[in-house]
Amino acid sequence: MAFGFWFWLGVFVLVSVWPSVRCSDLPRGAVETECRDRYLLVTTELSFTGNEPRFEAVDADGVHPITKQYGSECGYMVSILPLPGHAELRASYFSCHTDNQDDAVFTFSFNLITIDENGVETTYTVTATCSLPLPWSPREVSCEENYMEVSMRSDVSCLSGKTADNWTAALATAHSSATSTWQVMFQQEGQQLTPMSLSEARELGYVFHLTQGRLVFRSPYTPRSVMGSVSMVNGSLVEVVHPILFSRQRWVVMMVDWVVACSTNEGMYDGSGLVWETPTLLSPLVSGPSGLESSKIRMGVDGQLLDEPITTERGYRLEISDATVQISIPFNADGGYRNSFVMDNMYHEFYVVRLYYEQTFMDDCGVETRLRLHRPMNTPLLFQRLSIINQTVLEERVFTVYLENLSYDVDLVAVTLNGHDFTILEANKTSLVITMVPQPNSTLHAYILRVPFEDAVVHKLYSTDGVLQYSLDINYTLVILPQEEPYYYLASVVAQFNDVFAPVFNGVCNEKSITFQMDHKPFDYLWEVGVGHYLLTPNLAAKRGYVMRNDSQSLTLEVPLFSVGYTYKDVNLTQFHGTFEIISRVPKTLEVTSSLAQRCLFQTTELIVCSTDGVVTVATDVTLAIPGAEPNRTSLLDSTCRPQETDDTRALFSFGLHTCGTRVQVDHQRVTYENEITIEQEFQSVTAPFKTGNAASVVTVRCVYPLSDLYKLFAFWRFEADSPGIGTILTTVPVKTFQPTFSPTTRRPLSSRTTPNTGLTPGRKMPAIHPRAKYVKVFSWQINQQRNHLGPDPSHPIQWN
Ligand SMILES: *[C@@H]1O[C@H](CO)[C@@H](O)[C@H](O)[C@H]1NC(C)=O
Ligand SMILES: *[C@@H]1O[C@H](CO)[C@@H](O)[C@H](O)[C@H]1NC(C)=O
Ligand SMILES: *[C@@H]1O[C@H](CO)[C@@H](O)[C@H](O)[C@H]1NC(C)=O
Ligand SMILES: *[C@@H]1O[C@H](CO)[C@@H](O)[C@H](O)[C@H]1NC(C)=O
Ligand SMILES: *[C@@H]1O[C@H](CO)[C@@H](O)[C@H](O)[C@H]1NC(C)=O
Ligand SMILES: *[C@@H]1O[C@H](CO)[C@@H](O)[C@H](O)[C@H]1NC(C)=O
Ligand SMILES: *[C@@H]1O[C@H](CO)[C@@H](O)[C@H](O)[C@H]1NC(C)=O
Ligand SMILES: *[C@@H]1O[C@H](CO)[C@@H](O)[C@H](O)[C@H]1NC(C)=O
Ligand SMILES: *[C@@H]1O[C@H](CO)[C@@H](O)[C@H](O)[C@H]1NC(C)=O
Ligand SMILES: *[C@@H]1O[C@H](CO)[C@@H](O)[C@H](O)[C@H]1NC(C)=O
Repeated sequence: MAFGFWFWLGVFVLVSVWPSVRCSDLPRGAVETECRDRYLLVTTELSFTGNEPRFEAVDADGVHPITKQYGSECGYMVSILPLPGHAELRASYFSCHTDNQDDAVFTFSFNLITIDENGVETTYTVTATCSLPLPWSPREVSCEENYMEVSMRSDVSCLSGKTADNWTAALATAHSSATSTWQVMFQQEGQQLTPMSLSEARELGYVFHLTQGRLVFRSPYTPRSVMGSVSMVNGSLVEVVHPILFSRQRWVVMMVDWVVACSTNEGMYDGSGLVWETPTLLSPLVSGPSGLESSKIRMGVDGQLLDEPITTERGYRLEISDATVQISIPFNADGGYRNSFVMDNMYHEFYVVRLYYEQTFMDDCGVETRLRLHRPMNTPLLFQRLSIINQTVLEERVFTVYLENLSYDVDLVAVTLNGHDFTILEANKTSLVITMVPQPNSTLHAYILRVPFEDAVVHKLYSTDGVLQYSLDINYTLVILPQEEPYYYLASVVAQFNDVFAPVFNGVCNEKSITFQMDHKPFDYLWEVGVGHYLLTPNLAAKRGYVMRNDSQSLTLEVPLFSVGYTYKDVNLTQFHGTFEIISRVPKTLEVTSSLAQRCLFQTTELIVCSTDGVVTVATDVTLAIPGAEPNRTSLLDSTCRPQETDDTRALFSFGLHTCGTRVQVDHQRVTYENEITIEQEFQSVTAPFKTGNAASVVTVRCVYPLSDLYKLFAFWRFEADSPGIGTILTTVPVKTFQPTFSPTTRRPLSSRTTPNTGLTPGRKMPAIHPRAKYVKVFSWQINQQRNHLGPDPSHPIQWN
């Protein structure tokens, strides 16, 4: 095909006639020139020129600053392109100040003026010579960014798309006005034809050239179009200027009918790319079916055509119908320039592409016409709104947050969780997990953040109406690469559980114990179970003799009577009340959230209670020591202290620790109170096998308090122990019915080695207690700990003195 041939020829010529830049002052590579098909391209880096370089065209007549308007009239186009970072000048081969030899060799000369940051201007000279890379078509239309240019071989004439009427009118005007100098009249819809001189037309911005073999006409785009018109052709804006040149040479009136038309549609952003449309037949350049058939269309970018395999690979699309040609270039396709940056803490981006379009066709008279068009297009400023998807599943107890819509040049570098900062690397070393994932069906990506509800950073809020709420405020730190420009995204997630209550206990009274039971619920771990100030652990249970069973269903705790933690009330010889309290509390604050104080009625056999307020209550079988002894004849060391209640065998005493002759002994760890139950001599049984005095000691009653529990006694002279004392009943006679519970070897005599100087008058000095007792009964302490069986020991005969 002819077209392919021209193309290859063009490449050949371009390589062989590389232009030369003659300027010794110019740093190497600072300015590049290139001969393109129909213009010289001068390119210079903005880093060299500063942001506002200027050009001047230089010829024999002098220096001509290329201003916006001057460029559009004289065939120069200057663009500052921040994205590739350069400035460029496109100078048409027919530009005003170019030396043209036979429409084949073109010599350019420019001044490049740069301004440095101090405002100092420097001028460089740029010259170039181009040999025509591609032969001229009979008619060529160039739709530059700032002007329209048409050039025709001087022997071409075609009355394109005109009715006879129009032509007759023009002819009539030409005949009546023609002189030997050339004049011009512009055809406009519904307007009178008004002849004017070429210099008058030049004043209006229209330039006519007659070169060696071609006629050139150039017109700026003028929306207020003085002599042209802008119309809608099949949905596209088309600007048309239609001059007719004429002059009289002897008897002949010569007329040249010119028309230039360019599509002035802007590119549009359709959400996925840039789209540009033009009519397939650019009327009035061409309108007939021959135009359609002969039409060849190619596209490219940056002023150069691209082969179809490349455009296809880049995703460009060219759709040609009878009415319109539509070109679409996807966002961020190769050939364009994209930029991203942060504005208002949001990711912004835009994409620009400088479309180049070429169409060749036979006009209505069969003359080959080649139309070239430069069309810069850009998307509006687009912003990428991030969003999160809350993928938390309550049952998993992990916050799962999906952060989506991150462009490929955005990285997550850190997160702040409820005010705690983590870089991505740090986060991965903890229980947080951050994973990057591609986003389905898009070029975007996403991050998934997983934070367990129980992680220390998660805020936990419990309200007494049973609502448990976990919350997490996230501050994502994102950066745009490679410039590492940061921005932030905030998100909050909450997870709420209803009907969350502290554990509930059930208490059951047994004959000699209380059993507590608690069914496990999912949120039990929010609370801890305690006895008094102590946390209930298997260890504590073992130490105090509680029997604890903890399985997946429930927790049961059996608390034997007299173990630590009981309080006693209403003691008489028949029965008494024992109370044991179990609590649940918040681990951090120790705030008690629920408690159960189970109160049970127990049968009294024997007992000793050393209360926190300093009262000893003891019920004991005195006949065990002296068979046949009458309990109603007993008293304490102070014989006026009589039993509160007696029956056949037992006596019940209740007395203050500082009354009834109670002896007190203080050593460095504890305070020991001791009294004795004695029996009057005359009521002693005759069968008693030992010597008798006025009164016989039957039972020793002892209460021991840790010294540390009694600090109020020393500070305020008030008896108020922190916990009940440890009571012991010592009898002198072996009794089979008692469970041996306490090893005699661990029992210390009351004659202490040291009596610390406590400032407390210890009362009478207590006589030493020798191991007179075979059996010792211990209450409230270590009952289950010391289970060594104690049989009667013949090596310790009972001794009374
Ligand atoms: C050409 O003639 C037609 C009718 O004769 C008229 O409607 C039209 O405006 C004319 N065109 C121009 C450019 O004058
Ligand atoms: C618009 O397109 C149709 C084909 O769809 C064509 O016949 C018509 O000539 C076009 N109009 C102009 C003004 O080019
Ligand atoms: C995020 O991207 C998805 C899919 O690409 C889109 O459906 C959604 O609208 C985007 N969200 C926002 C806030 O732009
Ligand atoms: C964090 O760890 C997970 C799994 O261990 C891994 O898939 C992920 O890529 C890591 N993330 C980063 C940012 O290193
Ligand atoms: C992604 O694309 C596939 C096919 O290309 C489609 O089946 C699927 O529904 C799409 N998913 C989304 C989220 O659009
Ligand atoms: C998010 O984190 C950044 C960096 O730590 C901080 O500058 C910004 O103020 C934070 N935003 C909020 C709302 O806390
Ligand atoms: C997130 O998901 C959880 C679990 O599905 C839900 O309870 C919560 O209301 C959701 N919304 C927010 C904003 O966290
Ligand atoms: C009972 O067992 C559960 C685990 O099954 C444990 O979390 C809890 O702490 C245990 N309770 C006590 C009081 O030891
Ligand atoms: C013992 O006390 C209970 C009340 O606690 C009472 O009902 C009962 O009668 C008392 N028994 C004797 C023998 O006093
Ligand atoms: C003591 O009790 C016995 C019976 O247990 C009774 O016979 C005797 O009279 C009582 N003595 C006194 C002084 O109450």
